[in-house]
Amino acid sequence: MLKVITVDEMMKVGSTIPLRVTCSDSHQYILKGINNYVETGKALFNEVVGSRFAALIQLDTPQINIGNLSDEVINDSIDLKKYGFKPGPCFLSRYMEGTSLKVSPVTAKYISNIEIVPKLIVFDAVLMNSDRNGNSGNWFNLKQERKLIAIDHSNIFRLAQIWDKNSLQQDEKIPPEIIDEIKGKDYQTLIDEYKKRKYRKYEHKRQHQHPFSTVGRTIKHLSGIEIENCFADIPPEWSVSKEDQEAAKKFLEFQINHIDDIIHELEQLFKV
Ligand SMILES: Nc1ncnc2c1ncn2[C@@H]1O[C@H](COP(=O)(O)OP(=O)(O)O)[C@@H](O)[C@H]1O
Ligand SMILES: [Mg+2]
Repeated sequence: MLKVITVDEMMKVGSTIPLRVTCSDSHQYILKGINNYVETGKALFNEVVGSRFAALIQLDTPQINIGNLSDEVINDSIDLKKYGFKPGPCFLSRYMEGTSLKVSPVTAKYISNIEIVPKLIVFDAVLMNSDRNGNSGNWFNLKQERKLIAIDHSNIFRLAQIWDKNSLQQDEKIPPEIIDEIKGKDYQTLIDEYKKRKYRKYEHKRQHQHPFSTVGRTIKHLSGIEIENCFADIPPEWSVSKEDQEAAKKFLEFQINHIDDIIHELEQLFKV
């Protein structure tokens, strides 16, 4: 298991007190751990599950690890002590150089990988990520390539750190529920830019205007084992009960089984 060696910087943004650290592989990571603001470990569970699902559908997101934060490192840092960080397993997201993106018609023009938009929307809709619209911190733009990537999966399952078996069961709906956030302004601005670039290119061929067909196919081809692996080896120290973990897996399976219906709803956003 990777070990956290030094604390380099408190990020001073975000609600989970993320920090930049260097680990035993000499790489830098953004760390999220259990502290006075992240008491249950569900935010860390959400991050791991979200990152693994993103990798399955080839959505650009930083590489992740589960590492160990030791008592020694905590005691060496005034900040970590102040925020009540607990020793033990923590979530690590490989540090990438980039900046938060305030989404607007102007900034959207400079995104080099606009084709990410439908996939990102499906990802947020399937996992019910309620914390991207209106939060520039969770739209992340890589510095050199100007690529938009997905970060911060701590607020999936609609309720961030307070979802449970019951809330997830209630969210398993037919027709599927698309959370309001996904109908928000940031997404619509990116959809408009996507349509400008892609639809113009295929103007003569209306059949190309199915933005979700590739990601839909990918999701339908996922195997049961691949889904299961998104939930494997969650540290017991994060205190997410087996019952809740099972419910989260069932919820994701439900969403995947109804992917055609979800996509049908999402297509309406492209028709505005
Ligand atoms: N892998 C990463 N590489 C570089 N910066 C990151 C990475 N992950 C997060 N950040 C930066 O840290 C900030 C806070 O991280 P985030 O995951 O959004 O935490 P929170 O859950 O507290 O909102 C982000 O807005 C971003 O600027
Ligand atoms: Mg955030």
